[in-house]
Amino acid sequence: MVIVDCIVSGRIYWRGELVDAAIAIDDGKIFDVGLEVNLPKADRYYRFQDKIILPGLIDVHVHLRDQELSYKETFESGTMAAAAGGFTTVLDMPNNSPLTDSPSRFIDRVNLAKGRIYVNVGFYSLLPKCLSEVETIANLGAIGFKVYLNRRYGFLDPSDYDSLKQYLNVCGGIGIPVVFHAEDHSTISKLEDEFRGLSDFRGFMWAHPIEAEFKAVNGVLNIASASNCRVHIAHVTSGLIVDLISKFRGLATCEVTPHHLFLTSDVLHKLGGIAKMEPPLRGIFDVISLWNTVRNGLVDVIADDHAPHSIEEKFGESFWDIKSGIPGLETTLPLMLTAVNYGLIGIGDIVKLMSFNPSRIFNIRGKGSIEPGLDADLTIVDLDREWVIDSSKFYSKAKFSPFDGFKVKGIVKATFVNGLMVYDGDEIICKGGEILFGRRIRG
Ligand code: DOR
Ligand code: ZN
Repeated sequence: MVIVDCIVSGRIYWRGELVDAAIAIDDGKIFDVGLEVNLPKADRYYRFQDKIILPGLIDVHVHLRDQELSYKETFESGTMAAAAGGFTTVLDMPNNSPLTDSPSRFIDRVNLAKGRIYVNVGFYSLLPKCLSEVETIANLGAIGFKVYLNRRYGFLDPSDYDSLKQYLNVCGGIGIPVVFHAEDHSTISKLEDEFRGLSDFRGFMWAHPIEAEFKAVNGVLNIASASNCRVHIAHVTSGLIVDLISKFRGLATCEVTPHHLFLTSDVLHKLGGIAKMEPPLRGIFDVISLWNTVRNGLVDVIADDHAPHSIEEKFGESFWDIKSGIPGLETTLPLMLTAVNYGLIGIGDIVKLMSFNPSRIFNIRGKGSIEPGLDADLTIVDLDREWVIDSSKFYSKAKFSPFDGFKVKGIVKATFVNGLMVYDGDEIICKGGEILFGRRIRG
C-alpha cells in the first residue's frame, strides 16, 4: 500500500474552479488530487478547511542582492520574505555587485545561493560582452536576459539599439526570453539635465515621463519583431503602453507592479523617498487605465519588482540622491487579494497573473497549476482576514513600505515549496528551495 508524505486539504483552485478536495504529495511532487477518501494514506495531514489553495506563486521580478549588497538583502532574507509573501519561486535580477554579466559571474552567483534559499530561485543575466557568451550563459541555465534601457549596467550602451538588435537576434535563435526595463535613456538624461536644479521629487518625476517609456517600448517591439525574439516588458505604468504591447501577442508580454496599481504620484508629496522607484508612480488616469487593462486580460503578469535598500538610502538632502526601489514580496499578494475582495479581479486572475503565465512565459517546467506529477508548490490564503500592513514585521531587510498602514483583506496562511511547508502563516520553518535552470524553446 502506498503511503504518501503528506496530504493538504482545503478549497483548491483546480482546473478553473474552487473545489473542496485534497492534494496528496510525495517526494516533492503532487501525487494525486481528489477527495481525501479516494487518496492514499499519508504520514502527515495539513487541513486548511475553508482556506484557498493556489498553485505556488511565481514572482518574475525580484532583486535578491546578496554578494556586495548583502546589507540590503541576502539570499536568506529575500527568500524568507518570498515564502512569507506566498511566493514559491522568484526570478533574481542581475544588476548586482558584481554585476551578473558573464558566464563566470553567473556561475559564482548560482553557487553562492546553493543551500541558502527558502523558495525556488531562477537567475537572469545581463547581456555579456561578446555575442558568443549569450549561448554559454543560456546553457548554464539563465532563465532569461535583462536589459536596462534607462541606464547603463554592464556592457550594453542603453542608447545603442543597433547592438541590441544583434543580441536579440542571438537570443531569438536560442529561444531565451529577454526582459526590458523600458525607459529611453536619451530622453531621461536630457530631462535630468534640464531639471537637475530641482531637488524635490518633481525633478525626478518630470525626468521620467511616460513618453520615455513609450519610446523605449516602441523601439524594443520593433527590434523584437525583426529578430523574432520573445521580449517581456517589466513594470509597465500605463494602460496606453499595455495596449501597444498587446498588439504583439506571441512575441511580447508585459508585467505590472502593485505599486503602479495601488498608488499615484500624489503619495510622493507625503512619503518622499519611501515611494521613489523607477519607473515612478504615475497620475490617476494612468492608474485607472492600467487597472482597465488588468481587468480586460491584456496584462500578462503581476510582479512586484522587489528592490530592497537600506533605510538610510531612502532619505537624502536631494531627491536625486535617494535610491530607487521598494520591497514588495510581503505586500503584493495581500494587495492583490484585497482587489479580489473588492471585485476588481477574480481569484482565477491571481492564478493566471502570478503563477500560470509566469511559468509559461519563462518556460518554468512543473509549475503554474495543480496537477499530478507537477512540483508540490502551493500558496494557501485566507481571503477573509483583514489586517494592516506593518513593514517592521517584514522578513526582508528593507523594513519600509509605501503601503505601511494600508488595511488589506487577504493573508498568506501557508507556503509549501517542493512538498515542504516552508511558512506556516506565523513563522518560517525550513528551507525548501531549489535552483531553477532555464529551458530553451526553439522555433
Ligand atoms: O526602482 C528601481 N529599483 N528600478 C530599477 O530599475 C532598479 C531597481 C533596483 O535595483 O533598485
Ligand atoms: Zn527591478
